Amino acid sequence: MSKRFYITTAIDYVNGQPHLGHAYEKVITDVIARGRRSLGQEVFFLTGLDEHGQKVQQAAVAAGKTPQAYCDELAVIWKAFAAKLELTNDEFVRTTQPRHKAVVQAILSRLYAEGHFYKAAYRGFYSTREETFLTDKDRQADGTFHPDWGEVVELEEENYYFRLKDHQQWLIDYMESNPTFVQPTARRNEVLGFLKNNELEDLCITRPAARLNWGIPLPFDADYVTYVWFDALSNYISIPAALGDPGVPDALHVSPGTVGPPPSLWPADIHVVGKDIVKFHAVYWPIMLKAMGAKLPRQVLVHGWWQKDGQRMSKSTGNVVDPVAVIDEWGADAFRFYVLRELDIGADGNWTEGGFRARYAAELANGLGNLVNRSLSMLKRYRQGSVPTVSRELAAEAEKIIAETRALLEKSELQGALKAIWGLVTRANQYVDQTAPFKLAKDPLKAQRLDEALYNLAEVCRILAVLLWPFLPETAGRIYRQLGLAGAPDRFSDAQWGGMKAGHVIGTPEALFPKKEG
Ligand code: MSP
Repeated sequence: MSKRFYITTAIDYVNGQPHLGHAYEKVITDVIARGRRSLGQEVFFLTGLDEHGQKVQQAAVAAGKTPQAYCDELAVIWKAFAAKLELTNDEFVRTTQPRHKAVVQAILSRLYAEGHFYKAAYRGFYSTREETFLTDKDRQADGTFHPDWGEVVELEEENYYFRLKDHQQWLIDYMESNPTFVQPTARRNEVLGFLKNNELEDLCITRPAARLNWGIPLPFDADYVTYVWFDALSNYISIPAALGDPGVPDALHVSPGTVGPPPSLWPADIHVVGKDIVKFHAVYWPIMLKAMGAKLPRQVLVHGWWQKDGQRMSKSTGNVVDPVAVIDEWGADAFRFYVLRELDIGADGNWTEGGFRARYAAELANGLGNLVNRSLSMLKRYRQGSVPTVSRELAAEAEKIIAETRALLEKSELQGALKAIWGLVTRANQYVDQTAPFKLAKDPLKAQRLDEALYNLAEVCRILAVLLWPFLPETAGRIYRQLGLAGAPDRFSDAQWGGMKAGHVIGTPEALFPKKEG
């Protein structure tokens, strides 16, 4: 079986509500996944939840629930969120699932047996209220710790450490010879610069079970659980391992696998993550994989962070964008369009209500919506909805944009692809103005010219549906239905001029993006 294109998102902390940042990352990943499927690749898209750790344990206690019951309730909300965003994930991982825990324990056993871990004491300042060690970064300007931390005591604790240091030069060499391992390039340079200028510290991978028991127990020392990152990062390989993927080292095949031939997934093609967690993905994770004897992912694709109205989003100040509310009011595609069109992957963004409304009005309602609506309405009015003979007037321009879109999708340049596609929207709207079918319709001698114009417009609408499907799946489907075409516009190869056949009768035109007042 050939290897599938395997793409993942970060797994979100289960405590707290899904917000714009989570939604953005999942949408980017979904577009890349859909784009690859449309291009004919077999894809496996994984997303999910990070459910262990102190914060979850505390939140569960505060809510009077067991941590598992607490996670189970929240997981329902997060899964519904994925559906709301129209994600096409193939699996949804939860780090409390037995299939994940078994693989994490297998990884821990293997690395322990091969001498990658050691136990050592750590001495530091500990906040008893927050149950966490503080560092110098947590100190206030006068050197003291903020009273919010409660009592801070100096404490010594033994933990297990993973030998990262030994692999530092290897990782530098790997990144030098694989320039697209971390993308965009600015992020790659940051990671390389960090690796070249700092000595890596070994990674603490445990917490004493006496202090934190909401975690996966170490298979070789019952007094400890593994600390969140070791657990969380492993999700990317635990699911392939649990499914029996032959690309995963044999030692990690601890569950029975699935019925039927196991999918071939590992190594991952792209891990999509936010800029705050690059170090975990571009430094710790490759070293963990090397120690496991597994191949490295092909790429860590790093996106920027969203603010709202120029401020960090924060629940305490109420400065948040609730993607669910936006989708309920405007539709999933309007949300997807705004975030994808507004930000190039890597850059930081700023959500403003005005910016959102402006793009909705200009690009969706007046741009795409108007084009499709007037093209199909005129075809309906002047030719009873029956497609005229094939004409190739806009074919060359459309084909150029199709080729550009394909190349940009292959490079995960989603904003660039949308810009290219809107080049066709704008061109076709101009074409309506230039050919003025409403004038041609008044002159029987111009019937052939009217046929040409109507054909070109209908065909552009069909091609736009195919190009847009990864980005705006619902809208693309609606354009197809209004064109009277069966199935989904989910095959890029259908973006070829001439697909609309003469005599085909279209469906009923209706507004794709209703104009909103206010
Ligand atoms: N659980 C860890 C990730 C483990 S991956 C093995 C985590 N969770 S998180 O819920 O805090 O963040 C999940 C993702 O959302 C991260 O990639 C993070 O960068 C992203 N975002 C969180 N807030 C964001 C914005 N304001 N803007 C864009 N993305 C942001 O970290």
